[in-house]
Amino acid sequence: MLRRALLAAAASDQIRGLLTGTQAARAIVARYVAGDNASDAVRVARDLRAAGLLVTLDYLGEDTTDALRAAAVAAEYVTLLEKLHAEGLTADGAVEVSVKPTAVGLLLSPGGANGVAPRSIIRPPRGVPDEEPSVSGLQESESGEKIARENIERIAAAADSAGTTVTIDAEDHRTTDASLRIAARLRERYPGVGSVVQASLRRTETDVRALAAPGTDGAPRVRLCKGAYNEPVSEAFTDAHEIDKSFARCLRVLMEGPGYPMIATHAPRLVRIAAALGLSREPGSFEYQMLYGIRSDEQARLAASGARVRVYVPYGGDWYGYLVRRLAERPASLGLLLRSLYPLGGT
Ligand code: FDA
Repeated sequence: MLRRALLAAAASDQIRGLLTGTQAARAIVARYVAGDNASDAVRVARDLRAAGLLVTLDYLGEDTTDALRAAAVAAEYVTLLEKLHAEGLTADGAVEVSVKPTAVGLLLSPGGANGVAPRSIIRPPRGVPDEEPSVSGLQESESGEKIARENIERIAAAADSAGTTVTIDAEDHRTTDASLRIAARLRERYPGVGSVVQASLRRTETDVRALAAPGTDGAPRVRLCKGAYNEPVSEAFTDAHEIDKSFARCLRVLMEGPGYPMIATHAPRLVRIAAALGLSREPGSFEYQMLYGIRSDEQARLAASGARVRVYVPYGGDWYGYLVRRLAERPASLGLLLRSLYPLGGT
């Protein structure tokens, strides 16, 4: 309930202006974000590699409404991959990249005008009717799906040349079909391209069964996370316990399948379930993933135990949407931020 309210409030331009302008927000951002540019990202990746951790880098930004901007985001990833390769960080996929389809054009039409109404970074609260058309409802030729696929293909080609790969992040449910289609299509040429599924979506158990079915789509890399977006109740579980149960069901399907599961959670109980299921898999045939700045001690503990652990590291100046999703998961941090904006006893 609180999470919903926070995400809804954060959609206001006034609150965005207030938050992004404060020192307190900058301090919280510094915890979760590597820095403003690719050099910061490379530096953090180097440090994490030295600590025995794998890395995926995310250039922050989403809901791009301009084709030139979408192409520039793809170009940023290509340059980043070249820098990482030059530093020897990409060998065997040790450092890879994560890309949001809406950052590289999923919401655009080929002419540059929006094919789908641009959305605010923050989705409507759960339960609010879904009035925007699904990206999956458009033909690829008349939607941004083709633009996004071509941009991600450029990134996948650069990743392949550097000896690493790309994972396609999951955004809200309106983008799920298109994102899964783009990944499946790119895997025909670049089998390492990863998909992300969200346990909070009701459809996900069916999606993971398809992804884990031998022969349908190779043996893909699949990241399972809970899902960070506000979704209508028709599409998503809203109860935390229901989401955990869905996560455990999807996890079992992936761990019993032929692909490479990437278990993205900080929740201790889900990590324990994954470890138990992992006992019947080949060592190194799955990995844990956690976010930069969250449970770093647990990341180190798992890596020291011999597990593969990848840290998701965002960088770039467009951090507002990412920060708000992290704050909504951790209302205590938001409390600190609000207190700095409206100090008790202040004028
Ligand atoms: P949960 O939120 O229950 O957290 C478990 C524990 O972790 C908490 O009790 C706390 O100790 C700690 N914790 C969690 N969040 C914290 C925070 N912000 N600050 C401090 N401590 C915190 N989502 C999505 O929709 N699409 C995507 O592509 C991805 N990609 C992705 C990659 C990776 C590597 C991770 C780890 C997560 C994502 N997510 C994501 C986000 C994910 O969907 C989810 O919102 C968060 O991981 C929080 O859920 P947990 O499973 O960690 O559980």
